[in-house]
Amino acid sequence: MKFSKHPLHTKEDMVAASYFPPWFSIAPMMDCTDNHYRTVARLMSKHAWLWTEMIAAETIVYQEHNLDRFLAYSPDQHPIVLQIGGNNLENLAKATRLANAYGYDEINLNCGCPSPKVAGHGCFGASLMLNPKFVGEAMSVIAANCDVPVSVKCRIGVDDHDSYKELCDFIYTVASQSPTRHFVIHSRKAMLNGISPADNRRIPPLKYEYFFGLLRDFPDLRLTINGGITHIDEVNNALRLGAHGVMIGRACYRNPWSVLGHVDSAVYGVPGTGLSRRQILERYQVYADSVLEKGGPNKPTLRTLVKPLLAFFFAEPGNGLWKRKADAAMQKCTTMKSLFEETLDALPDSVLDALPSEVSPPGEDIFAGVHDLLPPPYNSIEEIILCV
Ligand SMILES: Cc1cc2nc3c(=O)[nH]c(=O)nc-3n(C[C@H](O)[C@H](O)[C@H](O)COP(=O)(O)O)c2cc1C
Repeated sequence: MKFSKHPLHTKEDMVAASYFPPWFSIAPMMDCTDNHYRTVARLMSKHAWLWTEMIAAETIVYQEHNLDRFLAYSPDQHPIVLQIGGNNLENLAKATRLANAYGYDEINLNCGCPSPKVAGHGCFGASLMLNPKFVGEAMSVIAANCDVPVSVKCRIGVDDHDSYKELCDFIYTVASQSPTRHFVIHSRKAMLNGISPADNRRIPPLKYEYFFGLLRDFPDLRLTINGGITHIDEVNNALRLGAHGVMIGRACYRNPWSVLGHVDSAVYGVPGTGLSRRQILERYQVYADSVLEKGGPNKPTLRTLVKPLLAFFFAEPGNGLWKRKADAAMQKCTTMKSLFEETLDALPDSVLDALPSEVSPPGEDIFAGVHDLLPPPYNSIEEIILCV
């Protein structure tokens, strides 16, 4: 499927042409990928693309006089993508215009969230996939109100609308009716029958063959694969198989060191940040204490600032003890410095001073045989239907 009028999101399109391409992205995660998490993540990888949590267009519009709280970030976080959610064209337009001033590198529309709070209330999140024409219109409006590339993050289907053809129809409609050239595909469908968002990331099976079918059938689009990827070797496998980008969510949150510590060297082929965990904590402490010192109505709690560190020592000796000590320290400490003074003795120097070690061996090949499972090409499906 050719969309030659609109070129791919090239390096030249990017706000700073010095960024590496989005071969690796940390997925948007509500209540997780906030400024604090992104600060830690950037200390582990200079080149991973960071994503905000989804921010509703209405929040941006109604908080017009308090926008820094939702949209400000440190310049170190580039390259960074803003994800917005919404179903009202006027609000999407205004929210994008307001957000544009913050210099994000890409603006993305959420078409994948299955939360009943989002999807159940008037076609927002994953249920937008049922209305591709609207998404095309929304993406045109978003693109018209910002200076950067725009993208869509979606599932491979919704409820019974889960055929490959329906997915292709969605992508085709959106790409042909708007300047959207980048799609992030969470490779499982969304079930809007009331199962929880967490179950919606576990129960519907992953169908990577749909993603690779899209790569074959839409050669002019940029496609990022997402869902169930946990290991850096799987990232490189997906890129070798033709994916333009790979996005990881939960593994970057639950075991950040083992994933993010390897992104620069193993994916981008350049030296990593060279920082040990101790050095990362020292830098994060300066950040966290400056945020606490600033005060003001949006001042986070110490607990909020510690949250992105809770999986930092995953599976390491001293991890459990450190978390218990941190929990107790949060009751009385008022600075990150004092919290670290009270708790870091729970961890051996060998853990604190280590650099990311060798990449551990991957498990089974999650993409094995995917090319044998590819759905029939989209064009041929259309021909079959026309012939019937
Ligand atoms: C706690 C949590 C919050 C999430 N919030 C968002 C969100 O705001 N926007 C979005 O598009 N996806 C959201 N997701 C979905 C992830 O971006 C990603 O698509 C999903 O977790 C599958 O990737 P993974 O298997 O690598 O985790 C969230 C996932 C989790 C676990």
